[in-house]
Amino acid sequence: MNVTGLRAEYTPDALGLGTTIPRLSWQITDAPTGWAQASATIEITDATGTPATFTAEGPDQVLVAWPGIPLASRERRTIRVRTTGADGSASDWSEPLAVEAGLLDSSDWTARLVHPAPDAAGPTPHPAMLLRREITLRETPVSARLYLTAQGLFEAELNGRRLGDVELAPGWTSYHHRLQYLTFDVTDQLTAGPNVLGAWLADGWYRGYVGFDGGVRNLYGDRTGLLAQLEVTYADGSAQTVSTDESWRSTPSPITATGLYEGETYDARALPAGWSGPGFDDTRWGGVTLGELDTATLVAPLGPPVRCTDELPVLEVITTPSGRTILDFGQNASGRLRIRVTGRAGDVVTVRHAEVLENGELGVRPLRRAAATDRYVLTGDSEEVWEPRFTIHGFRYAEIDGWPEEAGPLAESITYRVLHSDLERTGWWSSSDELLNRLHENVLWGLRSNFVSIPTDCPQRDERLGWTGDIGVFAPTASYLYDTAGFLGGWLHDLAAEQADFGGMTPIYVPYLTLGFPNMPLAAWGDAATLVPWAVYQRCGDHEVLARQFDSMTSWVDLVAQRAGESLIWDGDVQLGDWLDPTAPPDNPAEARTAPELVATAYFALSARITGRAAEVLGRTELARHYTELSERVAEAFRHEFTTPHGRLASDSQTAYAVALEFDLLTEPEARRRAADHLAEIVVANNHRVGTGFVGTPLICDALANNGHLDTAYHLLTNDACPSWLYTVSMGATTMWERWDSMLPDGSINPGDMTSFNHYALGAVADFLHRVLGGLEPVAPGYRRVRIAPRPGAGLTCASATHRSPYGEVAVSWRREGEQLTLDVTVPVGVTAVIDLPELATEVGHGQHSFTTHYRAPEADPPRPPAMSLFERAMAAAREATGATLA
Ligand code: BGC
Repeated sequence: MNVTGLRAEYTPDALGLGTTIPRLSWQITDAPTGWAQASATIEITDATGTPATFTAEGPDQVLVAWPGIPLASRERRTIRVRTTGADGSASDWSEPLAVEAGLLDSSDWTARLVHPAPDAAGPTPHPAMLLRREITLRETPVSARLYLTAQGLFEAELNGRRLGDVELAPGWTSYHHRLQYLTFDVTDQLTAGPNVLGAWLADGWYRGYVGFDGGVRNLYGDRTGLLAQLEVTYADGSAQTVSTDESWRSTPSPITATGLYEGETYDARALPAGWSGPGFDDTRWGGVTLGELDTATLVAPLGPPVRCTDELPVLEVITTPSGRTILDFGQNASGRLRIRVTGRAGDVVTVRHAEVLENGELGVRPLRRAAATDRYVLTGDSEEVWEPRFTIHGFRYAEIDGWPEEAGPLAESITYRVLHSDLERTGWWSSSDELLNRLHENVLWGLRSNFVSIPTDCPQRDERLGWTGDIGVFAPTASYLYDTAGFLGGWLHDLAAEQADFGGMTPIYVPYLTLGFPNMPLAAWGDAATLVPWAVYQRCGDHEVLARQFDSMTSWVDLVAQRAGESLIWDGDVQLGDWLDPTAPPDNPAEARTAPELVATAYFALSARITGRAAEVLGRTELARHYTELSERVAEAFRHEFTTPHGRLASDSQTAYAVALEFDLLTEPEARRRAADHLAEIVVANNHRVGTGFVGTPLICDALANNGHLDTAYHLLTNDACPSWLYTVSMGATTMWERWDSMLPDGSINPGDMTSFNHYALGAVADFLHRVLGGLEPVAPGYRRVRIAPRPGAGLTCASATHRSPYGEVAVSWRREGEQLTLDVTVPVGVTAVIDLPELATEVGHGQHSFTTHYRAPEADPPRPPAMSLFERAMAAAREATGATLA
């Protein structure tokens, strides 16, 4: 056996941890069949080289409690793990993992916040500022750490070189509650004598323009500020700390204007050469003023930072009907361009961004008031390379204006740098159906474009907010595709903190800002308080997230209970309901077919049930009983209010039946059967086009498949008539759209004000692809137990699903040849897999397993019934019933 993948909490790089007792996880490979861990030995070596060993009895290998003395701030220790089987066999030691605590106590901070003086002022977008400080070290240190954050956005330089590769640092959090600091190991970048620490500082979310309808400025404060604490240790053990203080110098940077929505303008001629290195004369720079920062708000990040994770080349250079030049990168995403250009001093290259073309020109209307325009002013010296620092755009196309004649060909000079939170990819899916594969790719890119420090609704227009409803429905899909535990865990901290500020009401988006849209309790949106921690717990096996969020979960459910009152029917409040159901008119996305109170009451029952289960996991028996009973009573009230004795629902819509079935609100098997049959009828009557919005979309395929209508689910899933998932693919989509018809069949952009081409919510169907077509479903938290139950159909000849679970890789792959189904399964140590096919039921432990079984041949999968009008359908049924034939 080998112990691999050792990690502390959720970071493979455990520098600057925010806890004294990091939990440890590891994976075990190459274990003989039937082998099980009986205990693990954890060795913790301190800075003096003294090891201590601890034994953790039992099979646990995920998020195992820290066994040693808690870490102190800055303390570094090295961990190794070895594992012993029930048979007494032991593995070798794992590779060592160094863990190091960050600054855990607010009193660890001696640095003072500094504001540039004079600071940028006037209307946004503001210039970015440069700050610098020369630091003299008496000798080359043996160790050095830089703890750094900003009110605003920063990029640091040390001795003339950029520090690290983090973008948009310190990310967006609810700054008045939590401000993340970054830890850099700068040991190798400092030498005896003069050194210079410098930083670019811009408004970002802190002070810049954020939000729709004109948005807000100065959301968290009206001054930007930098906080830096450099701690060096010399060979003799003595230490020196250099921090931001009055001695720092500042000046406006060559970034003459920058904003997240507006874009960035950079006048390269204004760069003070050598400004972040020693020997630079900063006497003509301004100074800084000391500011206030509550160091109790400073936290180490739980998830990874934003980085450039990909580079896309130009696919095509297009000359538009009006003669403009547009680059097509072939993929909608989020990021910005890096240009390599030669020209004359003062030449200006302008870049505008958009997701789509309309009438062959850049389609910028969906961006609303986000200018998304970058400008670069050349020095004229030699080849110049530039990428904006403090802005980000959601786009596939970029229009280039002012490209100098002497510059190289556009296609070779420009690269799309894809930016998002650098999560670890954990999930894959593919099949024999290229259109479904593209749909899955689109879901993946929807996630990548929108997980930018927080889970946003969209990456392009004047919004990009942490809308709770969007991630509420998408969290399970996201947590299959990427390791989201730290990323969502951090965001949930903010959700809970802000929810507490609003008396238990989950804000409509987190971080919250006051805009024209009222902050009110919204079903499905507010339920993110229960749905997201539950998804993280289910997929990552982390109890702590439930413990931490438990008050948030209960206070949301309690608030809904209060709104619903004795009837337990949540009506009377404004709701977004089944937002963007395809029948909703362009100017009223909430006007759905499903009654909003039906949706709200269904979610009330679901959130109460989840909270009850969370209480159970946490051993809070009384509360478990309370919320479970509450959920049952709400379900009963739902049945009473919204169902007929014959199983119809008050709203005759796909979403109504989908929530009733998938939230388990119909207890009688007969009622379920009737509801499911009727749901299938509605879907058929709608010619297998989607009729659901944000609420029904993640549920509809499961509601059919789980209740005897698998083929109808597939007919819906593989339809490409508008509206449907594959309609978007047939229109050339490379990301999920906000509306089913963000682009209308004639190629024009939907006239609605909210028409994004990059919203992940409707992509929640990918969870169905993973679990049902792929056949990989977790049935115990953290994938400790999985159900391998593919349900081939839709003419597919093969599919595969692979997930890097906390225990290691679980992989399922099946193929059909005639009536023979071959299933290959990989199960990691620590995981049990239940194999569940119509003619094959067994349970296996770790290893590679192959099965063959009898299954319907792909050719025998029923084709989608032809589309017809209701009348035609009724006549066809009547003909069949009476045996009549066409004359
Ligand atoms: C966002 C949505 C969000 C909705 C709720 C929109 O502007 O883009 O995704 O959930 O508002 O009102």
